[in-house]
Amino acid sequence: MNFALTVNNLKVHYFTQFGNVKAVDDVSFTLGKNESIGIVGESGCGKSTLGAALLRSVPFPGKIVDGQIVLDNQDITKISDDEFDKKIRWKEISMIFQGALNSLDPVFNVGSQMREILKQHGYPRDDIDVISESLKSVLLEPTITRKYPHQLSGGMKQRVAIAMALLLNPKILIADEPTTSLDVMVQSQIINLLKKLKRDRNMSIVFISHDLGVISEVSETIAIMYRGQIVELGKSYEIYKNPKHPYTEKLVTSIPSIKNKENIPQNSDRKSEGSARLERIESSQQSIIKQMGCKYFDNCPYAKEKCRNDPPLINDKNGFVRCWLYE
Ligand SMILES: Nc1ncnc2c1ncn2[C@@H]1O[C@H](COP(=O)(O)OP(=O)(O)O)[C@@H](O)[C@H]1O
Ligand SMILES: [Mg+2]
Repeated sequence: MNFALTVNNLKVHYFTQFGNVKAVDDVSFTLGKNESIGIVGESGCGKSTLGAALLRSVPFPGKIVDGQIVLDNQDITKISDDEFDKKIRWKEISMIFQGALNSLDPVFNVGSQMREILKQHGYPRDDIDVISESLKSVLLEPTITRKYPHQLSGGMKQRVAIAMALLLNPKILIADEPTTSLDVMVQSQIINLLKKLKRDRNMSIVFISHDLGVISEVSETIAIMYRGQIVELGKSYEIYKNPKHPYTEKLVTSIPSIKNKENIPQNSDRKSEGSARLERIESSQQSIIKQMGCKYFDNCPYAKEKCRNDPPLINDKNGFVRCWLYE
């Protein structure tokens, strides 16, 4: 298959005064053309760091320390910053950063902010067609360019943020929590919009969210992330129907939706927590720094002695699980 993106054994660390935070710890996945992968996991598990790494935008003191990100047969971790900026950033891979809707500059109207992006990338500043096209694809009127951020609703601001990410027609869009902090109605509008964009523009999407329910609406493939690692990866319906990793099981059984009731996991006898809502388990920096063996050990109802060792990666035709239960 012709992949849009292949990530191999990616490691991203933050070099802090407390030690080395392994925010992304040996992550591998592939993304097909016109496909969407959902990255899901609780707050602090490394989703944003992973997304930013794909765009080589990991903030200081973070650094990609190992692994490959392959785009069109080229490892883009190896090319110079200059070449990356010229050829890849926003043109091939673009990102809607977490909280993007709140990071629009209040002083400038939408049009100036969009024109500024064009200018930074060497396009004529007044390329109205490019701007209108981008706004049209997120279902906004071109006249919105005259508005200032405070005149827009949350949903409209998020659409503007998406339009900005689409300005240079990227093939891959990373959307980091694009629906978080929007109300439910607006959330579903944004989800539908992303689905439409994927269809219309033949785009691949990396959809990041802490909410498995939201993610499964957009993504064919889901990667479950826990403390810097993908602990399970599979087709969206498989993850729902038959979650393998105990952490995935916990996520699936804690979605309070009707859909969930129709999809009770096959191995529900393994459920120790019933349909209890997911309690947030903090992925503290300390535990990311220190823990050996399975990272879910302390919270796993099936933990055994051997889980103190690093779990094996068990592959099947649609994905993998990183767990001793399947050895
Ligand atoms: N700038 C930073 N400096 C040090 N540690 C960081 C920094 N940004 C994130 N981290 C740590 O990296 C881990 C992953 O964070 P993040 O990628 O933001 O997770 P998520 O997006 O899943 O909430 C967390 O433990 C977080 O504390
Ligand atoms: Mg995040």
